Amino acid sequence: MSDLTSKIDNLLSKKVLKLEESPTFALEKKADELDALLKKEGNFVVRFGIGQPDFNTPANIKDAAKKAIDENKTKYTASTGIVELKKAIVNKFGNDNKIRYGIENIFVGNGAKQVLDVIIRSFLNKGEMVLVPKPYWVSYTQQVVLSEGEPVAVKFNKDLKIDISDLNNTAKANAQKIKLLILNSPNNPTGAVYSKKELEDIGEICLKNSIFIISDEVYENFIYGDAKHYSIASLSDELKNLTITVNAVSKTYAMTGWRIGYCAADSAIIKQMTKIQDQAASNPCTPAQWAALEAIEGNQDSVEIMRKEYEKRRDYIYKKLNSIKGIKCNLPEGAFYVFPDISALFNNKVKNAFDFAGELLEKAKVAVVPGGAFGDDNYIRISYATTIEKIEEGMNRLEKFCKEL
Ligand SMILES: Cc1ncc(COP(=O)(O)O)c(C=O)c1O
Repeated sequence: MSDLTSKIDNLLSKKVLKLEESPTFALEKKADELDALLKKEGNFVVRFGIGQPDFNTPANIKDAAKKAIDENKTKYTASTGIVELKKAIVNKFGNDNKIRYGIENIFVGNGAKQVLDVIIRSFLNKGEMVLVPKPYWVSYTQQVVLSEGEPVAVKFNKDLKIDISDLNNTAKANAQKIKLLILNSPNNPTGAVYSKKELEDIGEICLKNSIFIISDEVYENFIYGDAKHYSIASLSDELKNLTITVNAVSKTYAMTGWRIGYCAADSAIIKQMTKIQDQAASNPCTPAQWAALEAIEGNQDSVEIMRKEYEKRRDYIYKKLNSIKGIKCNLPEGAFYVFPDISALFNNKVKNAFDFAGELLEKAKVAVVPGGAFGDDNYIRISYATTIEKIEEGMNRLEKFCKEL
C-alpha cells in the first residue's frame, strides 16, 4: 500500500473501510480477465458465478420504456415512485401474494438491493442486531454493518433452511437488541423454498419477540416441482404488521440493469424510508418505472417460459452433481442456484471452498462462488442462469477436475 493510500484510508470512514468487497463481483472480474486471455486460444471460462438471468428483457417491456422516453417521461418523479406503478404493485400483492395494501404502503426504489438498504437504515441504531440466517445473500450482512448494526447468524438445518431451535434460542437470548430478521425464500444461495408451516414457526418466534421481518421474495416466480411460494405477510394480520415484503422486477422479468425494486409495509415505516429516499436518491429511474409498470401489468408469458427453462437446467445439474464422487447436493426448489457440499473433496492443498473455487477457475476454467461468501465454506454456489450447453460443458469440466483432485 502506498503512503498516499494509507493516508487517505485513515481519513475515510472506519465503517466503510470495514465493509467487504462483493465476492461475486470480484470473481466476475477475475473470470473476465481469464476469459479475455482464453479467447485468443478459442477457449472460454464457464461462468456459474453471477446471479443474473441469461434471458433478454421481453420486447413489450422494452417498448414501454422507449414509449416513455418518446413521451418525455424523463423527469423527476415522486421519490418513492409513480402512482401508476404503485397501483400495479398493490394489485400484484393482492392477486399473487394475497396481501392487501394501499398505495401508502408501497415504496419503489432502485432495485431490491437499494430498497433493502433503505429498510435497514430506517430501523437500525448503532449496535442493534439483525438476525441473518446462514447461508445468506452477501449484501444483507454488509448493509447491516453499513448501518452500524450487528448481523447475528442463525444456523441452518440439513435442508439448508433456518434451524428453528437456534432461531428461538438466539432470539430469546438477545431479545432486547434484535430489531429485524431477514428471510429469503426462494433462497439465494441454496434454492430452498419455505413451506407454510415453516413460515408459521418462524413467524411465531418473531411475534413472541417483537422482531420485524424483512421478507425478500425476489425469486418468487422461479419455483419448481410441487413447491409453492408463500409470503409470510399473508399468513395473519399480526405477521403482516411485522413484515416488510421486498420484491423487484430484476429477476422475474430479466431486468437486472433497469434497477427497479419495491417493498410493502406499514405506512409508518414507508414514511421514514421516504425521508431517506428524498435525500439520498430523489427517485428511481423514470423510464425504468414505466417499463416496470408494463412488466407487472402486461403479458406474463415470458415468465413461464423462463421458469420452465430454469427447471430443466435445475433437473440436469442436480442429477449430474450428485453423480460426482465427493459432491452432495440438495434438490433446490426455487431460484436459479444450487449449493452443493464439496467438503468431502478437501485435501492438503484444497482446504476449503475458497481454495476449491480458485483451483477450479485456474485449472478447469469454471467460475463458481465459494460458500464462505454466504457464511459456510464447505459449499460452493453454482448459478444456472446460463445456457444448457454451457451448463453441460461446465459440469463435465467440474467432474474431471474433481476426479483429478
Ligand atoms: C436474494 C436477493 N435479494 C435481492 C437481490 C437484489 O436484486 P436487485 O437486482 O433488484 O437489486 C438479489 C440479487 O442478486 C438477491 O439474490
